[in-house]
Amino acid sequence: MIGKIEQLLQEVEAMEAANADELEALRIKYLSKKGAINELMADFRLVPAEQKKEVGMRLNELKNKAQEKIAALKERFENMDNGSEEMDLTRTAYPIELGTRHPLTIVKNEIIDIFARLGFSIAEGPEVEDDLHVFTKLNFAADHPARDMQDTFFIEQNEEDVTKNVILRTHTSSVQVRAMEHAEPPIRIICPGRVYRNEAISYRAHCFFHQIEGLYIDKNVSFTDLKQVLLLFAKEMFGEDTKIRLRPSYFPFTEPSAEMDISCNICGGKGCPFCKHTGWVEILGCGMVDPHVLEASGIDSKVYSGYAFGMGVERITNLKYQVKDLRMFSENDTRFLREFEAAY
Ligand code: DAH
Repeated sequence: MIGKIEQLLQEVEAMEAANADELEALRIKYLSKKGAINELMADFRLVPAEQKKEVGMRLNELKNKAQEKIAALKERFENMDNGSEEMDLTRTAYPIELGTRHPLTIVKNEIIDIFARLGFSIAEGPEVEDDLHVFTKLNFAADHPARDMQDTFFIEQNEEDVTKNVILRTHTSSVQVRAMEHAEPPIRIICPGRVYRNEAISYRAHCFFHQIEGLYIDKNVSFTDLKQVLLLFAKEMFGEDTKIRLRPSYFPFTEPSAEMDISCNICGGKGCPFCKHTGWVEILGCGMVDPHVLEASGIDSKVYSGYAFGMGVERITNLKYQVKDLRMFSENDTRFLREFEAAY
């Protein structure tokens, strides 16, 4: 009897099962009513009295070991979720949360796409800039109010020489300057990017926003070229029926300068609260690059002329999607962002 128990103990210790069916077969073989261990139990009454104590203990040990081993093997199957034949390949997958593109990115890409078709390529520049590229070379006088603390974030301020200031760029026109310094005309670029101004944050102003600057320099570039490109842009962006008008304006780096309005795409030009009942909304500034600006960056203004324009991406996005509060763009509220799921 002891010999039989020892043999079963060894078998139990060596037990392995590759799947749940095999494990169940082992359980039946050793632990079921008619299993090997129960059979031994039944024979227990035949054991001579003086051996009963030892045989009884060994039998109990065998039964416990068998139960423990079966439980351990079972646990291993339950924790195993790959490679097992028990895997349910028909079960539906966990849903994968897809992100959405940011509305400003959608609109920026759309603008880039329109100008890319007209032969403009993308140029980028640093957000931490020096005064030279943001102001001086763009013909801003040393005492121009745009350099003022109220507008500009200063990284390093030089009391004696403002041209040595290091600042956060207040417009993407700085990229124009970098492009003119480094390339020979013809230059045909658009410069998308983030800009910073020291403004109190409200529904209509933020301390950072996004602009797209355009620049074309070549021989014989005229105001008519500028107007045609902007008209085409407006129609592509806001629809074939869109009209434009140019109002005289002033920027230090362009001469003549203009601001462009489009017919209000919300009321179709009839007048509504968005266009303050004028039928027109302003979307960008533009003009012919001032000869001083060309010369400041090493371009011969007797040979070359050019036009430039600059627009705010938030403004164009508002016109397209009527986002009433600018702060929505930077709050990362996924409920807002999800509204643009179908937009690209
Ligand atoms: N840099 C101007 C701004 O931030 C926008 C602008 C106006 C850019 C006229 C231009 C331009 O290139 O010609 O307000």
